Amino acid sequence: MINIGVIGLGMMGSTHLDVYANHPLANVVAVCDIKENILKGEDKAQGNIEGQAEGGFDFQAPGLKKYTDAMQLINDPKVQLVDICLPTPDHVTFGTAALEAGKHLLMEKPLGRNAQETQALIDAASKAKGMSMCAMCMRFWPGWDWLKQQVENQTYGKVLAATFRRVTSHPARDFYMEGDSCGGAILDLHIHDTDFIKHLFGMPKAVYSAGYPHPTTRTDHVVTHYQYDDIPLVVAEGGWTMTDGYGFTMQYTVNFENATAVFDLAQPQPLKVIQKGQEPQVILLATGMGYEYELDYLLQCLDAGKQPDRVTFADAADAVKIVNAEAQSIASGQIVSLA
Ligand SMILES: NC(=O)c1ccc[n+]([C@@H]2O[C@H](COP(=O)([O-])OP(=O)(O)OC[C@H]3O[C@@H](n4cnc5c(N)ncnc54)[C@H](O)[C@@H]3O)[C@@H](O)[C@H]2O)c1
Repeated sequence: MINIGVIGLGMMGSTHLDVYANHPLANVVAVCDIKENILKGEDKAQGNIEGQAEGGFDFQAPGLKKYTDAMQLINDPKVQLVDICLPTPDHVTFGTAALEAGKHLLMEKPLGRNAQETQALIDAASKAKGMSMCAMCMRFWPGWDWLKQQVENQTYGKVLAATFRRVTSHPARDFYMEGDSCGGAILDLHIHDTDFIKHLFGMPKAVYSAGYPHPTTRTDHVVTHYQYDDIPLVVAEGGWTMTDGYGFTMQYTVNFENATAVFDLAQPQPLKVIQKGQEPQVILLATGMGYEYELDYLLQCLDAGKQPDRVTFADAADAVKIVNAEAQSIASGQIVSLA
């Protein structure tokens, strides 16, 4: 069993608590939020995907410690794993504090807002006794882990083109209102696809992006072309500029030499493979969301005393670096090299 303290009990904190409530290795001993009504379990966050943040955690559980000060949770001797689901500007302060206190750390994405913040966390993790992971959840998502395997094994030949799309309406919660705070959709939402593209194909040679701010002061809708020597076309669109009521869309289409794979979360069977002369094949996926597999992986690693390596802090920092190059490309109108 791993004794866990969760800091920040909004949408993602609530999502993690739901998973821990049903996991045999998880023992949530402490929770923290600055809002008392959330700590009482009276005010519960909503998820943006069906089945997420359903409020399955018992805030009245005997012995559960409740804090309004994150440092008190970090210094609670019972807590072994600090799970940080705070607004992004707080990641570096409380993440380094947790590592310096000798705790294991799960940090929600993005690791930080810029290279300075991500490097501070990498440095703290490299000196720390505890283990660490950043919650780049797409690497664990059913249908996306499948894609990684097909690309690696070249099951359908080489990739000729890969397009990703993740669009929704604006979350309109506190820290999402300020561009400097959330970094715009480019950093907060689109980073999932940026990270997954790097996970599939490695660091792009360069990026070329177009986009615009709305409603924050940072890029809230972006389309990027990721340049690779060996893959002709890799593109991702991300944004939270859709009109309220649009819902949440997460899709990919990958053209291999011998097949096309299509994923659309909104479909009852999200993943299909189309091959010449055959009926489209539905790929049956494991049930549940990436968060369950991500947290299960982390808990299994910690239980076995093994540093999680399916997504390192260096990977998470690379995703921020690429996203920031995309923002630079939008500002300059130029291709930005990542060499
Ligand atoms: N992995 C994913 O798919 C995913 C999805 C959404 C958000 N996120 C990330 O998770 C993080 C949190 O996002 P969210 O949507 O849950 O935000 P949110 O606004 O829903 O929740 C944040 C919570 O933190 C609390 N809080 C703020 N400052 C605090 C402090 N100093 N101490 C204690 N509590 C504090 C707030 O009261 C709020 O309840 C962000 O970094 C975001 O980018 C990840």
